[in-house]
Amino acid sequence: MAAIHVVAIAGSLREQSTTRIALQRALEAAADAGASTELIDLREYDLPIFDADRDREEAGDAALLAARVREADAILLGSPMYHGSYSSPLKTALDYCGFDEFRDKTVGLLAVSGGSFPVTALEHMRSVCRALNAWVLPHEAAIANSHSAFEDGEFVDPDLEERVATLGRRAVQYATIEPEPASFESDQNVGAEGK
Ligand SMILES: Cc1cc2nc3c(=O)[nH]c(=O)nc-3n(C[C@H](O)[C@H](O)[C@H](O)COP(=O)(O)O)c2cc1C
Repeated sequence: MAAIHVVAIAGSLREQSTTRIALQRALEAAADAGASTELIDLREYDLPIFDADRDREEAGDAALLAARVREADAILLGSPMYHGSYSSPLKTALDYCGFDEFRDKTVGLLAVSGGSFPVTALEHMRSVCRALNAWVLPHEAAIANSHSAFEDGEFVDPDLEERVATLGRRAVQYATIEPEPASFESDQNVGAEGK
């Protein structure tokens, strides 16, 4: 099997982000399954709020971010739940990407919430992936009650940790899956071509 490269984008900029911790665990599992991995920590990228009138090359580190995502065979998107959806840093990063970064790629989803399960954040990320013609893993990881889910940077619940690790393994396992026919949402996505 050709080497698989898995890239994870962490949608929280917080120093103690639990989303980042969880994505790191998923990437560890992907590495154990034979992949090379990279965590994209958006704190390290200068990403101005997206402006469709500005070329990506003129928008801070946006072109660098897109290049990193393009290198991936499989992508993990991780986000905290913000106001019932996924976070604005992740949205900004995704808006700088398009079909070249996502089309026919395998994507795994992970979301973290302070309250109950972040189902809507996962659903909204899944919708974005449909509009970009990515193939989203059926398995997804949801971490509720984030303040009590980790102690000293470690998962409290081994079953939850296993769900997260499974996300990383599945990303490798299905990285080369045959693409689906184009989604009807992508047909309307006039902003995703030739960014
Ligand atoms: C602006 C904002 C909005 C939030 N909205 C929700 C929400 O709608 N539902 C929820 O359960 N938690 C919500 N939270 C809590 C975060 O999802 C939770 O603290 C999460 O752990 C943050 O992820 P992080 O540790 O990776 O930064 C919100 C937090 C912030 C800062």
